[in-house]
Amino acid sequence: MIKPIEGFSKLSKDEKIEWIANTYTHNSEETIAILKQYWSTDQKLQQLHDEFIENTITNFYLPLGIAPNFLINNRLYAIPMAIEESSVVAAASKAAKFWQHRGGFKTSIIGTEKVGQVHFMYHGDTKKLQQFFKEVHPKLISNVAPIIKNMEKRGGGINKIELRDKTAELNHYHQLHCTFETLDAMGANFINSCLENFADTLKKEASEYADFTKEERNIEIVMSILSNNIPNCLVRAEVSCPVAELNEDKGISPMEFAQKMVRAVAIAKAEPYRAVTHNKGIMNGVDAVVLATGNDFRAIEAGAHAYAAKDGQYTSLTHASIENDIFKFWIEIPLALGTVGGLTSLHPMVRMALEILQNPNAKELMQIVAAAGLAQNFGALRSLVTTGIQQGHMKMHLLNILNQLGATESEKKALIKYFKKHTASHSAVVSAFENLRNQA
Ligand code: MEV
Repeated sequence: MIKPIEGFSKLSKDEKIEWIANTYTHNSEETIAILKQYWSTDQKLQQLHDEFIENTITNFYLPLGIAPNFLINNRLYAIPMAIEESSVVAAASKAAKFWQHRGGFKTSIIGTEKVGQVHFMYHGDTKKLQQFFKEVHPKLISNVAPIIKNMEKRGGGINKIELRDKTAELNHYHQLHCTFETLDAMGANFINSCLENFADTLKKEASEYADFTKEERNIEIVMSILSNNIPNCLVRAEVSCPVAELNEDKGISPMEFAQKMVRAVAIAKAEPYRAVTHNKGIMNGVDAVVLATGNDFRAIEAGAHAYAAKDGQYTSLTHASIENDIFKFWIEIPLALGTVGGLTSLHPMVRMALEILQNPNAKELMQIVAAAGLAQNFGALRSLVTTGIQQGHMKMHLLNILNQLGATESEKKALIKYFKKHTASHSAVVSAFENLRNQA
């Protein structure tokens, strides 16, 4: 039986590795060798990575690919994408190239408002709490001055603090619902520091407020935390062209293709089972750029899916129309991104990815990421409504299967050539590989 370990975090990296390998794996020598194989030979770089998180034992690689030819607001970008899934970078590149010759992506920022809340319990008269809030508001702002000074200098800061009565949802529950402008920072630390300061002020001032009863004075702060639901930190990206210019080469007419695309979006709007997969495809593009630029893809995912469900039913993040023979395809997605702070200056690959993107500010990065998401969705739908997804997928997946089978370079070459003319399924690849081996 495996025993719990005390003080794991205090062990050295080698001791941690030894313990994990001996306790949980069959061949500890092999485990240790694999873990160490992924260490950087550059000790400084390795230390940097070791210190990003806790209990580090090695690095976990993801491929970084480039999707070139993204024409966004008349500027050409090559977009770095960190992702493990084959086909994603290829699909993005293909969609980018397609739209590069049809006016490119037009993007705009709809809003940049971030949100944070102080959740608290108040037992008493709501009217008195409202009066108290009015009186304490200037103090909430003045007490936070040292924290917001630099942000304000740059044009950001606190937009609004609102008292919200949530007692209809939960007994005694109230909140300070606060909105912020955090400029080029994702803003998590800034927002959370402000909120904790508001909470301290609220609690202290309430405890001394003359009009409150003893019970009312005892506000219970439950928590102070930013919200990843940011419906007003929103970006839009759009592509459009005359239907005739869609000149598809998949055996259907441009109009038929445009109509199928519009229908595919309509299905994702009507049917949550499809919408989730449809949006997952969008997030393939979004997350890959978010990750490459050192941003928090979990926050982005949470916010995007909340936005997709904002009207009560989970639905598509993209939209499509045909009007006056113009095909239009667009996305509106909330994206809280930073190009300063966090990993952006710490991680050498993130720094490089941002440089490749021509050092965007947060607003520019929002637009690039939205374009990547839209391109991904266009690519996925285009395959789905024409050839089906497996043709392209299996072609890309072929190399993964061949690597799994331990194919040599010359075997890979021969089989890639073979599958240019044959349908690639997992079993077809295995048997073609076996035939080739047997012939040798
Ligand atoms: C696969 O990662 C993504 C797709 O399923 C997206 C979609 O169905 O739209 C192809």
